[in-house]
Amino acid sequence: MIVPPHLPLAALPTPLQHRPDLGAALGRKAFWVKRDDLTGHSWGGNKVRTIEYLLGDAKAQSCDMVVLCGGPTSNFAALMTAACTAHGLETVQVSYGTEPSPKPAALAVGEAAGATIRYTGSVDRSTMEDAADALADVLRAQGRRPYPVPRGGATVIGALGYAHAAGEVRRQLRLAGIDALTLVIPVGSGGSIAGLLAGFLFDFEGDDKESPLDVELIGVSVSRPPEALRDEIDAKARGCGERRLRLANVRCRWELVDGRGAGFNRYDADDAAFVDELMRRSGLLIDTTYNGKALRWLRDLLPQTDRSILYWHTGGALAVADRLGSPRHPSPYHQETK
Ligand SMILES: Cc1ncc(COP(=O)(O)O)c(C=O)c1O
Repeated sequence: MIVPPHLPLAALPTPLQHRPDLGAALGRKAFWVKRDDLTGHSWGGNKVRTIEYLLGDAKAQSCDMVVLCGGPTSNFAALMTAACTAHGLETVQVSYGTEPSPKPAALAVGEAAGATIRYTGSVDRSTMEDAADALADVLRAQGRRPYPVPRGGATVIGALGYAHAAGEVRRQLRLAGIDALTLVIPVGSGGSIAGLLAGFLFDFEGDDKESPLDVELIGVSVSRPPEALRDEIDAKARGCGERRLRLANVRCRWELVDGRGAGFNRYDADDAAFVDELMRRSGLLIDTTYNGKALRWLRDLLPQTDRSILYWHTGGALAVADRLGSPRHPSPYHQETK
């Protein structure tokens, strides 16, 4: 088996919980939650799994710093900075726009962890990757060994974290007696869902002997229109599974749906009321950028089904604190974006 470099950070496996309380609030039976809000590094969330493989790769390549792309509210950027600093790598974060006021908690955490922030001055989010590549070239010419990372850590290497998460949840589902499910997950850069897809299609853990599983995987896109992201996700999943055996006993089909609602990083009064009610009923923290959008899509637009529903909670706790600490409509960080 091919084992890529990997730096363990997360407390795994994260719990798979049967949550009739949330199911009732969303008008669903047989409702389960995969608690990747509890990944256990810094404040947790889905990106911790991604960072394990990116940092492992950076270390394996003897890089001495990371140049990563991430806007002011990027959970990925702050979590990656925290991990890099703790493992001896300097971090530069390239953000779009200009320095925001008020400062989102994610940005403050990244800075406190040691990130130097560079702003591109443009509201176009795609300026970040160009600026990061240019900066990496300059740094190389100065004798540094930078490891450039696009938004969300969405590379084939980063996706490996979620390819392994697919194996993890498969084992948990077998123990729970579930062999057919609809899995819903919020999608930003698409790196996490690409990894999950790879992990349901290809063998990453020698678990081809696991019991059969039928998965309907639904990604709820919260920032870009689905048609702008579908092919990218598909290509990344295939790149991630390259040279691996196809899993014979998992049937997986996937789709990407539009959950942008009020727009990326924006929420309206209905979004706020929806997540507040869900938080009161479940005790979970639910952000309006990712999980609130995906759960709202699930409540309103997922057709009723007899299959078990598995909602993949991706974290976002700092955005909950931002919103509750500074409740404004639209949200203060919508200087976003293209
Ligand atoms: C809390 C949270 N949920 C979901 C996502 C989306 O994950 P991905 O970018 O891998 O699609 C992100 C991305 O940063 C995130 O921070």
